[in-house]
Amino acid sequence: MTTSGSDHGHKQEHWGSKFGVILAVAGSAVGLGNFLRFPGVAVNNGGGAFMIPYILSFLLLGVPICWCEWTMGRLGGRFGQNNGPGVMYALWRRGPAKGIGALTLFIPVVVYMYYVVIEAWCLMYAIEFFSGGFADRFAEATEGLTEEKEVVGAVVGAAGEFFSSTTGDTHNGGMLEGNLLYAILACFIVNFIIIYRGVTKGIESFCKVAMPLLILSACVILVRVLTLKGISSGLGFMWNPNWSALRNPQVWLEASGQIFFTLSVGFGLILCYSSYLRQDDDVVLTSLSASSTNEFCEVILGGMIVVPTAFLFLGAENATGGTFSLGFFTLPSIMHFMPAGNLFGGLWFGLLFLAAVTSSLSMLQPAIAFLENGFGLKRTGSVVLLGAITAVGAAPIVYYSRGLTALDHTDFWCNLGMILAATAQVILFGWIIGAERGVREANRGSDFPMPKFMPFVLRYITPTFLIIVLVAWGYTKLPGYIEGMSPATRGTNAVMNVYTPVIAEHFADENLEGEALTKRVRKLVGREGRKEPLPEWLAVHKDAAEEARKAESSDAKVARLVFIGLIVLYLLLLALADIACRNNIGKRIAEAEARGVRLE
Ligand code: TRP
Repeated sequence: MTTSGSDHGHKQEHWGSKFGVILAVAGSAVGLGNFLRFPGVAVNNGGGAFMIPYILSFLLLGVPICWCEWTMGRLGGRFGQNNGPGVMYALWRRGPAKGIGALTLFIPVVVYMYYVVIEAWCLMYAIEFFSGGFADRFAEATEGLTEEKEVVGAVVGAAGEFFSSTTGDTHNGGMLEGNLLYAILACFIVNFIIIYRGVTKGIESFCKVAMPLLILSACVILVRVLTLKGISSGLGFMWNPNWSALRNPQVWLEASGQIFFTLSVGFGLILCYSSYLRQDDDVVLTSLSASSTNEFCEVILGGMIVVPTAFLFLGAENATGGTFSLGFFTLPSIMHFMPAGNLFGGLWFGLLFLAAVTSSLSMLQPAIAFLENGFGLKRTGSVVLLGAITAVGAAPIVYYSRGLTALDHTDFWCNLGMILAATAQVILFGWIIGAERGVREANRGSDFPMPKFMPFVLRYITPTFLIIVLVAWGYTKLPGYIEGMSPATRGTNAVMNVYTPVIAEHFADENLEGEALTKRVRKLVGREGRKEPLPEWLAVHKDAAEEARKAESSDAKVARLVFIGLIVLYLLLLALADIACRNNIGKRIAEAEARGVRLE
């Protein structure tokens, strides 16, 4: 560990080298978001045209917020703070700083609770490929089939079975039936051992090996993919722009959401990582290097592998679809058709696993730093405590696996929190520290200065862009998720979904559609219909309808539980942040000030 002793009695840990810090931050950024989330989001939101909102979001949100966060983190380190609440409080000695600080603890920790589950899926898949398990499954499923369509169907079906049994998406408790629990346990152990070893010996050394390894593996796979016959049709499918998508606000929203998630910018973990810099280490170029590494991995490696191959081997209908089905369902199937597919499949999921580990480390370190700085815990104590907290949080996500409801709702609230946290940070930087002063601070020790117009961007453009995104997000997505928490509404919808096709079928000669159909359904089974018994031809579906109602309303209760759980956790963190700022954090900031440390 490299430490500087200037900080009376408190040892401040520092990164070992510039290369190391870039790899660590790139390791945090490059993750499942690049290889799983990006391809799905891009292909479903206009393909090549998606790159316009995406690049704009990168330039106007990603890069500026990264610079703010790097600068604030380095400043916070000067006050001996490596944790979000401490950094925020050092820069702004007011109550709301604690609230923003608590958010920068909350988001990484909560994302960890579900990210680690997906990490474990990747591990399971890698093992299944390397051990030949997939080859056996596919061979069994396709035995005796000759027609190409049948073979594709059988392979996709077999992959789907493995997906369902791994993710348990068909019923609650499904994730506990296979070996996934062991995989999750293994991920926890790996992550926490690395964290236990510390910033330099743990995170930095691991990323120095894992990052080159995973980029190399991805390049090998990319070469394999680009030399497949006919791949240009797949690339065309992915990248041919659908310009009309740009008129859809949802596409812009997805683009900015993707930028936040993939750069892991705006919610505290860059704040934490950059606080381990030395005061005259460069932030401007380092930040750009880490972000560009991420973009290379995302657009070039992530964007040219998954969707084009899916299209080439399985056709358009299999090359779109949700993020998870594309990654854990379609991709494994492709490997059956690709020469040496088992090897490439194992390599692919192995690299996903490594990418996930380097990211999940960055979700843990902010909270570890908080427990140590804020409450004086030793490494063992902080690791055990955080391990326990994240395990408790991951439990409902693992258990309530039907339709991946718990996971989905957790992800949604985190995404909203990310935009909120980023907005708060930019406003703090641009208006409270002051954009000019902030930029001057950023330029100290930098390899090249920030562009002259940056203060203007930070003060006006980025916050405006963020607020627009926030409002649009609230307007388009929030109602759906709030409704998803209502057992009554979801139950009723489920019942309608069972009856509607039956009713449409029954009155087939009337050709009921849209409004007319809804009206008829309501008349028969809605509020008015309930007074009379259902006609016989409908009554036979009653059990199925009740079943659907029960399932949906219990999922809604899970969604509600997630929401309440998150609120409680946030309030708890807020209380802890407050206590820490009044005691250890405040004391240490005062000590630093007594030594003459100032915001310049
Ligand atoms: N950027 C990572 C990815 O693309 C995800 C990530 C890493 C993240 N650290 C985070 C997301 C903290 C939210 C919070 O996969």
